[in-house]
Formats: sequence, C-alpha cells, structure tokens
Amino acid sequence: MIFLKKHVNIIGSTNVELMKNYDIYNNYTILSANHQTQGKGRLDRKWVDNKSGNLMFSILLKNVVNFEDISKLNYTVCASIISVLEKFNIIGEFKWPNDVLVKNKKISGVLIESKVIGDEVVVVIGQGINVNSASDNSDGYIYMSDIIGKNIPKEDVLDDFIYMFNKYFLSYGAYKLCSAKHCYYGKSVEINGNMYTVLELQEDGSIILKDSNSIENIYFGNELSLSRQEFLEDE
Ligand code: BTN
Repeated sequence: MIFLKKHVNIIGSTNVELMKNYDIYNNYTILSANHQTQGKGRLDRKWVDNKSGNLMFSILLKNVVNFEDISKLNYTVCASIISVLEKFNIIGEFKWPNDVLVKNKKISGVLIESKVIGDEVVVVIGQGINVNSASDNSDGYIYMSDIIGKNIPKEDVLDDFIYMFNKYFLSYGAYKLCSAKHCYYGKSVEINGNMYTVLELQEDGSIILKDSNSIENIYFGNELSLSRQEFLEDE
C-alpha cells in the first residue's frame, strides 16, 4: 500500500475529519495532527493530547477491507505498534481489543470506525501513540521517551508504523504476535459487575471469556473493554 501523508497542526479529530469527508480524501490518506481539540477514544471516551507529545493520526481505507475482516484490523494495528516499539528496545504487550501496554501502562490506543455506503466499505483507523513525554503525564499512561530516556521524532515513528502496517496487514502473523503478547491471558476481569477469566484470542478478532459457571463466551471488541481487578482505576 502506498500511503499519502497529510499533516495539520490542529484539528477536532483526525478520525472524524476522514470519516465525514471520506469522499474528498484520496484512498490511503494518512492524516496526522499536532493537536486535537476533540480527540475520540473507544466507547465514547475522550483522547486527550499532551502538548504534541502524542503521535496522532488516522488512516482512510476505502473498499480495501472486506466488511467481515474489519474486526481483525486490531491485530494488524497492534502488531505493528508492538514491532515499532521493539525496534526501540521497548517491550509492548497486547491488551485486547485495541491497546498496547508497556509495564502495565497504556502506550497506544486505537479507534477503528467503519461505515458502509451503498457497496463502499469505508474504514478509518485512528491511532494515538505516546511518543514524547510531557510534564502533565497522567497515571496509567507511559511514553516511549520515558523508557528510552530521550525524545524521538514523531515522524520516524509514523514511518516505522507504516512499514510494519504493510507487513502485517490482515495477516496471520499479526494475530500470532498479538496472541503471543496477550497480556491478560488467564487473568480475571470484571465486566458489568461479573467476573470472567480471559482465555484465547480468536483469529476473527474476538476473545473467549469464561464465566463463573465455566461457560465460555465469545466477545468482539466493539462490545466491551477489559478491566483487570487490580487495574480498575486505570480504566
Ligand atoms: C482509545 O484508546 O480509546 C483509542 C484512542 C484513539 C485516539 C486516536 S488519536 C488519532 C485519532 N483521532 C481521534 O479522534 N482518535 C484517534
């Protein structure tokens, strides 16, 4: 895939911009911004930028991904991030469905949105990567610079990401890497007041959670996010 990079200083949300105006942007556009005034996270959360230390961008894919493959894109994106981190000697872990953690703190979040217009499948993959630390870091988050002790040009991280994204795009390798780095495997999580044990990730993007009656339930990422008992305050 050849991507077309476009950068703006400030915008509401790169995801919203590409989704709203998908027809005027070229396919494979990557829109990045120094600042977002209305950055969006998953499940109606906000994504707050930290004085430009976040690498924030969105990728527009028009009729590139089949509808049934959208739920697997989390593996592509998170495997790409984990590999970029590895290049900087940072060990990342996969927190299903869309987060990458380092030392149990969030270093990257992904928001994948899609819509179908007629026979066109429009997908926007939004990515926030904590690259350069700022003084107002909040607990529960970690930056690449916190670990390697120096700032990194965000542009380099984006280029590395694009390279890895091409490599892992909807591949079995992406699923395998995320499974190998699946940090909540065997742990207890709470969902709506009920406890579950986290089991395997499935190739279609779903996860198996065993409830207290030992019944295995299958969930997709648009339905929930996992809160580990000991990390509930991070959610
Ligand atoms: C999450 O962790 O809940 C997902 C966060 C996704 C944030 C990125 S930043 C670039 C893109 N534009 C947005 O408004 N959100 C995504």
